[in-house]
Formats: sequence, structure tokens, C-alpha cells
Amino acid sequence: MTARATDPSPSRRTPGELLLDVRGLTVTYRSGRDSVFAARGVDIALAPGETLGMAGESGSGKTTVAMSLLRLLPADALVTGEIRFHGEDLLQANWARMRSVRWAEASVVFQGAMSALNPVRSVGDQIVEPILLHEKVGEKAARARARDLLDSVGVPSRRVGSYPHELSGGQRQRVMMAMALACDPDLLIADEPTTALDVIVQAQILTLLTDLVRERGISLIMISHDLSVLASTCDRIAVMYAGRLVETGPSRQVIGSPLHPYSRALAGAFPTLGDPASRLAPGGLPGDPPDLRERIDGCPFAPRCPEVEERCRSGEVPLLELEGGRAAACLHAPGYDQGRDRAVSRG
Ligand SMILES: Nc1ncnc2c1ncn2[C@@H]1O[C@H](COP(=O)(O)OP(=O)(O)O)[C@@H](O)[C@H]1O
Ligand SMILES: [Mg+2]
Repeated sequence: MTARATDPSPSRRTPGELLLDVRGLTVTYRSGRDSVFAARGVDIALAPGETLGMAGESGSGKTTVAMSLLRLLPADALVTGEIRFHGEDLLQANWARMRSVRWAEASVVFQGAMSALNPVRSVGDQIVEPILLHEKVGEKAARARARDLLDSVGVPSRRVGSYPHELSGGQRQRVMMAMALACDPDLLIADEPTTALDVIVQAQILTLLTDLVRERGISLIMISHDLSVLASTCDRIAVMYAGRLVETGPSRQVIGSPLHPYSRALAGAFPTLGDPASRLAPGGLPGDPPDLRERIDGCPFAPRCPEVEERCRSGEVPLLELEGGRAAACLHAPGYDQGRDRAVSRG
């Protein structure tokens, strides 16, 4: 058995108690003549109330995975695998069912969400909309809830009649969070929700977001290129590289003693604040990620890895369960060979 993105210990996790159980998620974009293999066999297991951070440099497939969960990808994306949410495989659900899942059961705060607000409608109207659509409440009760939600995300409730352009960037992002929380979902997916904001505001908003989901028992998948942000806000971390998960485990361990050389590079390379280049390439790493249009043989990180050996370059290097609820896809990770033996004996 290969490993999952959250605590894979079979004694603690049975599929029945998972909120989200993703298996073998594969996403291929078929644009023009080329196919882009953007997610390659991703497994994620998320318990109710659990917070999972997904890290990885630009282009590693984080947004692809996040958007695929609620089937928000463009039509040229071919998605296979299983996305079990409350036990139901969302890849088999029809569009009517998907519309009822979105907002009410699971919601997304997008990357660059600030431009997603409608400029000609008040923020109150925009928060009220999903509530009226998904719940049997009247206009008045929905509006009262919109005020409460604004308060809880730190925007004065008197701003309920304001238009997006009358608010700061940070306030607009808080409004997006209020919308995402409006129908009390079980899962919130936040894709680099604060990247466009200044650093102090980013930290405040991310801390607020994790506090809000904890209070409400909502599970969170939070995506960021910045491992340090995730470490301080999430229970567990999953590191993505070239469309695969290369390491997962409790946040403190992944940051403090990373098992995969790519996680080590990310953990050692806290981005230079405000420097857009450091988003794209973690400091000190030579070379570029592989071309996702190509088949990758062996470990995808091998061409850039300071510890590469010949045997890294051929054959599969799957993500395997190791000790302590951790998992890694590296031949050099302590216990990897034993993990492989266990995987083989379990079939
Ligand atoms: N609509 C699309 N069509 C074709 N390729 C895409 C599309 N969206 C993303 N990609 C490609 O998929 C890969 C993963 O992108 P993405 O999921 O956005 O990564 P991340 O969020 O980690 O930066 C990249 O190589 C990107 O160019
Ligand atoms: Mg992205």
C-alpha cells in the first residue's frame, strides 16, 4: 500500500471516518497537440476538522489538484481516480449534485480571489447569495448572517452595503472568506488566498482563517508556495513536485526534519519577502522542474537532486508510508526499503 497525504496509520484511519478520501487522482490537460500531465496519482486523506497544507513551487500542480476536487477545472482537463467526499465519489456525481456540494458542503477561496468579487454588487449581496441559494432562510435572516460573517472575518458589519472597490485588498479577501464560510461547509479549500497581499496582512488573514475553521470544525486544505506559512497554520503538510506528492507528514516534522531532498530545499529556502522570483524557484536549487508534457522515468526530482544516485533515475519511486505517520518518495529516506517490502507483501 502506498501512502496518503495525511496520517496513513491504518489503526487510526478507516475510510469511513474520512471526510475526503482521494485516490490515484490524475489530471491531464489536453491543450492543442500536447498533453500536460499535471497531477500524477495523488492520494489525499483528510479527517473531519483536519488542516492540511500543500506546498510546492509554481507549476507543481497544486491548483490543479485543488480545483479538481470540486470539478472546477476547464473542459480540456481529463480527471481520473476517485474523489470520495463523505463517502461519495464526486467524479461520478452529476452537475446538479456538484452544484449542491459547492458552497454548501465544500467551498474554495481562489488564488487572486479579489478580482472574483462582482464589482457592481455590494459585498453583503454577494455573501447573501449562496445562503439564499442553498438554505431555506429568508432574505432578512440571510442578511443578518452576512453581517455576523463580516464581523467574524474582521470587516466591520456596517460595510455590508459597500462595494468591492470601497474596501482594501485585505478586506476584499476577508469578504471572500466570509462567502466561503456562509453555508457552513465541511471542507474549505484555500488556494494561495493571500499571495497578492502584503506580508503582515497575509499572516493576519491566514491565522484568522485557520482559527475560524478550527472553531467550526471545518476541514481545510490550504495551498501555499511558502512552507513556513503552512507550518505555523496546518496540522499536516503535503509537498508536491512535478504533479506528485513527494512527502507528507505532521507539519513540525516535515519542516524540522524533512525526508525528501526537495522538501529540504523548500524548508531551507524561506522566500525572500516580496520577491516574485523566490515564489518560482526555491533558493539554491539548480535547474528547473521537469517538463510536464513528458513521461517521467524514475524520481522526478533526480535531475536537480544533490543526493542523486544512478538507481534514482529509473523505475518508480512511489510515496511510501514510513514511521510516525510520515511518508516520502525518496530511496534515501530512512526506512524506505522496509516500507517498500511492506508495500509489496501487502500487495
Ligand atoms: N488549463 C490548462 N491547460 C494546460 N496546462 C495547464 C492548465 N492549467 C495549468 N496547466 C499546467 O499544469 C501544470 C500545473 O499547474 P498548476 O496546477 O497551476 O500548478 P501550481 O498551482 O502548483 O502553480 C503547469 O505546468 C501548468 O502550466
Ligand atoms: Mg497555483
